[in-house]
Amino acid sequence: MNNKSVFGVFGLGVMGSSISLNIADKGYALSVYNRAEGGEENVLKNFMETNGHRENLQGFTDLMAFIESIERPRKILIMIKAGPTVDLVLNKLLPLLSMGDIIIDGGNSHYLNTKRRFELAQAQGVEFIGAGVSGGEEGARRGPSIMPGGTKESYAKVSEVLESISAKDDFGKTCCAYIGPEGSGHFIKMVHNGIEYVEMQLLAELYALMSVEMTHKEIADVFKAWNQGELSSYLIGITAEILNKKEGETYLLDLILDKAGNKGTGSWSSKAAFDLGIPNTMMSGAVFARYISSFKESREKFSNLTSAIKDKKEPLNLSLLKEAYQFARLINHQQGFKLMQMASESYEWNLNFSEIARIWSNGCIIKSQLMNDLHDYFKKENDLFDMTEVTKVLIKGEGAITQILTCGLNQRVSLHCLSASYYYWVDMTTKNLPANLIQAQRDFFGAHTYQRVDKLPEEYFHTKW
Ligand code: 6PG
Repeated sequence: MNNKSVFGVFGLGVMGSSISLNIADKGYALSVYNRAEGGEENVLKNFMETNGHRENLQGFTDLMAFIESIERPRKILIMIKAGPTVDLVLNKLLPLLSMGDIIIDGGNSHYLNTKRRFELAQAQGVEFIGAGVSGGEEGARRGPSIMPGGTKESYAKVSEVLESISAKDDFGKTCCAYIGPEGSGHFIKMVHNGIEYVEMQLLAELYALMSVEMTHKEIADVFKAWNQGELSSYLIGITAEILNKKEGETYLLDLILDKAGNKGTGSWSSKAAFDLGIPNTMMSGAVFARYISSFKESREKFSNLTSAIKDKKEPLNLSLLKEAYQFARLINHQQGFKLMQMASESYEWNLNFSEIARIWSNGCIIKSQLMNDLHDYFKKENDLFDMTEVTKVLIKGEGAITQILTCGLNQRVSLHCLSASYYYWVDMTTKNLPANLIQAQRDFFGAHTYQRVDKLPEEYFHTKW
């Protein structure tokens, strides 16, 4: 093939090869590159052996030849492991590119690194887009949700390809839309993952509660039924499938070690929440729950410390459990969107939350009916607690979550995220918190001063205690 490609993909890992095939399927002339060293000698060869018959696909292991095969301004999507490798690749790519070429980083890069790389590329005349891509391997192949951040002008030059490969929402619109400047696309992908951690942990907590008295199949049936209605989501659907999966006569789940791994985006979200002063208690709860699980050896050793007497009073009420789950999911989304709102204000990103919910309504790991609902609700209100459709469920759900938490206490099942959702709701709907005592303590030992209920908010006082 002699014609130049209109697009390039750098990196043929699982996500890179899936997205390449997705682009090629849409008819775009595509160049793909993978190095042929460091254990990756056969990656390109294998990819081309399977896919090289496609006339619109050219494969390269030589970087210069790859770059020269793409028409200018070049559009190159890099799909590599987030972290220092991205800097190494940029150092190689940037000197070979020309003014106006565009690099899109489609990995889970940290948004501050994206900001830095955006500025580095810009200084060399190259445009940089940090694009969150969600949906895993299947999403990348069939239609991911894409969250591009950078300048509007750069996005306009790549939007056709990105939008054509993305998932479509219920109305046929693409689940890819311009997010905002510099690191904003990767920031919202990071928060997406934080919300994902919580959704997963909530399902794990429900599974733990139900497991006390139900079989995997019975639990799967509950999740399947819930997945038909307003609670439907990708994660609840796969959880039902997981629960039903057998290896021979044994449920596969029973053979999987209870040590949860992570690649860091959940803890980045939590750190961002700490930095921005946003109480993302559920996200940090979900991250810490994974960390606790990783201490398997200690847990095994200390499990002797308790006889784990369970107070089995009455059977788990599944309709209360459903209400509690619905309650906790709403609080999770409230906390996640609040984090993005604070970032949007602090960094002046001007994010559109209805649009973010819309591009998360399909293609991504946290796609759900709730996301469709939020797409509508955010057109009218910015805070879930101002949305009557949401508060109605929360007010009604308070009784259910209280009973489910009590059940967890009685059964000795830890409910990190369910309990965090409840306390967030309680605190956010409580006029007077005991923080007056904290202020007094701070003033006592550190003269940090306090405000008074009987004075103006801008006045600060110190007492010689
Ligand atoms: C997605 C996923 C994806 C990846 C997570 C897993 O949106 O497609 O979120 O990005 O599966 O990074 O993260 P952990 O390994 O930290 O669970």
